[in-house]
Amino acid sequence: MYNILVHLHSVNRWIVLLLIVLALIKSFSGWFGKKDFTDADKKSALFALIFTHIQLILGLALFFISPLVSFEEGALKSEIFRFYTVEHFTMMIIAIALITIGFSLSKRAQESITKFKRVAVFYLLGLIIILSSIPWPFRIPGAGWF
Ligand code: HEM
Repeated sequence: MYNILVHLHSVNRWIVLLLIVLALIKSFSGWFGKKDFTDADKKSALFALIFTHIQLILGLALFFISPLVSFEEGALKSEIFRFYTVEHFTMMIIAIALITIGFSLSKRAQESITKFKRVAVFYLLGLIIILSSIPWPFRIPGAGWF
């Protein structure tokens, strides 16, 4: 079960990254091209939100069963324990919150340009945080690409 969850969480990172990038391309081109915010634009932002939330659920499940998360005394002195127990968890929650806020603010906006702007700004901030908090194999020993 643990291995399946790690694998799903690891592969889903690529889907999340791809969908956020697609939503960003659409929102920036809509914003700067002064286009109308269409159903396709909304769906693109929504799919990115859904897969980011799936990643959150997988991550939360892992948080409780992963041997790399530990609150035992002294564990946080180890870089890997500290990364998964504190850094990865906190930064990803912030990133997912930003993306969620961006989507709902965009939904509430009346004008197309405001809808595009809100997705563009919040999703971009979320993406930057996600990219900097992923356990890339060149940064965190033992982490995989898939
Ligand atoms: C968009 C958000 C996220 C992305 C892109 C992401 C990505 C990843 C990746 C690539 C790994 C390494 C998997 C491997 O070693 O192959 C990982 C591990 C992990 N993630 Fe996330 N994560 C996200 C959010 C979260 C959240 C919100 C939590 C906790 C609530 C979380 C908890 C964990 C844990 C505990 C591990 C360690 C799993 C293990 O190897 O034992 N992740 N994450």
